[in-house]
Amino acid sequence: MGILWLIATLLLVHSCSPGVCMHHGIVGGKVSIPHSRAYMVYIRDSETKTACGGILVREDFVMTAAHCNRNHLMVYLGVNDTDSLPQGIAVHPIPHPKFENKPGHDIMLLKLKTPATLNKTVKTITLPETENEEISKNCLVMGWGWQYYNKESPSRVLKEANETLIDSKNCGSADIICTEASNGPALGDSGGPLVCGNVAQGIVSYYINESSTIYRSMYTHIAHYLPWIHRTMEKPTQRPHETWKGKLDKLCKN
Ligand SMILES: *[C@@H]1O[C@H](CO)[C@@H](O)[C@H](O)[C@H]1NC(C)=O
Ligand SMILES: *[C@@H]1O[C@H](CO)[C@@H](O)[C@H](O)[C@H]1NC(C)=O
Ligand SMILES: *[C@@H]1O[C@H](CO)[C@@H](O)[C@H](O)[C@H]1NC(C)=O
Ligand SMILES: *[C@@H]1O[C@H](CO)[C@@H](O)[C@H](O)[C@H]1NC(C)=O
Repeated sequence: MGILWLIATLLLVHSCSPGVCMHHGIVGGKVSIPHSRAYMVYIRDSETKTACGGILVREDFVMTAAHCNRNHLMVYLGVNDTDSLPQGIAVHPIPHPKFENKPGHDIMLLKLKTPATLNKTVKTITLPETENEEISKNCLVMGWGWQYYNKESPSRVLKEANETLIDSKNCGSADIICTEASNGPALGDSGGPLVCGNVAQGIVSYYINESSTIYRSMYTHIAHYLPWIHRTMEKPTQRPHETWKGKLDKLCKN
């Protein structure tokens, strides 16, 4: 097994200049029906124009890969064609505290400065409920990334490909799930979801090629990070400040 451990392989991010983004994303697969994946979010740095995928997990939070973090990220909801983007929303990025620009802990939440208004083309996706729940093996990956592994070829429209999960023992780490195929996510698809049975189970992180035709795609296992996700997304009102009076009342009761 050859591990192609180039930064470029981890940083599945592309920069898109006008005129170049004329292809369909994901290696293999097919073009998604417009707006059929209403939870899918296009993420772009307003200065460097590097792009990633992400998912809307609540009106005020987008989930993506930590290696997509940049200084001027904007998220775009309900996107069909990346050449005609709706108004972007600025975000506050919260990468996993243990992520350090190498595989592992490649997960980030983006807090939207203006919460999304859900409608027919903007929806949230379900997250796993527990770490050990059974995952359907039949999954779908999607993105606006490159359509060839070795050639800059991002897509204007969303593309998707069926992927089959392989035994997680072969993925190298407990916090990773993986698929193996001759097609799948490539540069620019980072941060997008692996959806298995209508639940977002993985986040596109990186790939290794085992030969020139077999690619193993690695996804951050979302369920492994549920405690961090819940803590980070906790609404302030769910954690009321204990007042001195409250504490005194409690003491008096005991
Ligand atoms: C989506 O974008 C493609 C490419 O520009 C265009 O051909 C298609 O009509 C668009 N569909 C919708 C529903 O906007
Ligand atoms: C849904 O919301 C998106 C993003 O805010 C917006 O671009 C789109 O026009 C809205 N669609 C409808 C049908 O209201
Ligand atoms: C994925 O598989 C389903 C069921 O076999 C099929 O209907 C669908 O068209 C496939 N999608 C892609 C992108 O190949
Ligand atoms: C991975 O792909 C590259 C580029 O296509 C190729 O040069 C390399 O030999 C491949 N690695 C293996 C282990 O086959």
